[in-house]
Amino acid sequence: MTPELLEQGAARMQARLQTMDAGKAQTASGGRSAGIGRLRAGAELDLTHGRILYLEDVSVSFDGFKAINNLSLDIAPGELRCIIGPNGAGKTTMMDIITGKTRPDSGTVYFGSTIDLLRYNEPEIASLGIGRKFQKPTVFENLSVFENLELAMSMRKDVASSLRFQRSAAQSERLCEVLETIALQDNLTRQAGLLSHGQKQWLEIGMLLTQEPKLLLLDEPVAGMTDQETERTAELFLSLKGKHSLLVVEHDMAFIKAISDTVTVLCEGAVLAQGTLAQVQADERVIEVYLGR
Ligand SMILES: Nc1ncnc2c1ncn2[C@@H]1O[C@H](COP(=O)(O)OP(=O)(O)OP(=O)(O)O)[C@@H](O)[C@H]1O
Ligand SMILES: [Mg+2]
Repeated sequence: MTPELLEQGAARMQARLQTMDAGKAQTASGGRSAGIGRLRAGAELDLTHGRILYLEDVSVSFDGFKAINNLSLDIAPGELRCIIGPNGAGKTTMMDIITGKTRPDSGTVYFGSTIDLLRYNEPEIASLGIGRKFQKPTVFENLSVFENLELAMSMRKDVASSLRFQRSAAQSERLCEVLETIALQDNLTRQAGLLSHGQKQWLEIGMLLTQEPKLLLLDEPVAGMTDQETERTAELFLSLKGKHSLLVVEHDMAFIKAISDTVTVLCEGAVLAQGTLAQVQADERVIEVYLGR
């Protein structure tokens, strides 16, 4: 990629942004409200206790059904944690709670040692450095790969500053870095709608990465991918480990095998087992409820 291409892409995007209601844009990062830059600036993540995410005794009921039932879980900085478990175990609901989409009835959810996530709403939590990837890719189909990434980067603050967004040298460098990380540098000017399903997923992950999240939540990221795309995604996640903390929910055991250190098994809204994949696969209770005999 050349600086000229970057500049051309930026100019095109700037023009489109002016005609586009960016506030209504449907991306994972879309719809972030104004006034949260203040939060990001003031909120230094305290990792002195060696935990980036800490859930304790979290419960939530829907119409009397306990979807999350005294769930306790913690994640170390830079860790790649895999979460598996049967349908309806509460995996997505757990992500909904961490990201502020669902309020738990009780329990504690901390980001680092000092940030009580239950005090913040969804856009504020995103701005604190928690990025979320939903299962379905949500990129701007009519914009190029580059334009999608730059738009995501510009939306770090609010719509007004997105419109005035001027990329700094450091941000251009970050864009190049992200493009390489998601292996789409040869598709820079390609319209996102023309990408394969896997490439769209990587692009959306790239869009999250432009915002330099400390913690990334990924819900069934390889669902619908080809075997080759799944393998490439495993490499991508392994490359992100250490730089970011990752919480990955998946049913694809070959993928879990390729990326996992610690695997947590959720069942009926609580942790059933935790350990290496081999350990949880040998656990009778896990075999009973999930993996089968
Ligand atoms: N907003 C909601 N209102 C009512 N019930 C809900 C809501 N969200 C989740 N549930 C219920 O909570 C339970 C847990 O659902 P959840 O989607 O978290 O499971 P999951 O582990 O992600 O399953 P899957 O592997 O199928 O994605 C399910 O019984 C689901 O129907
Ligand atoms: Mg789910």
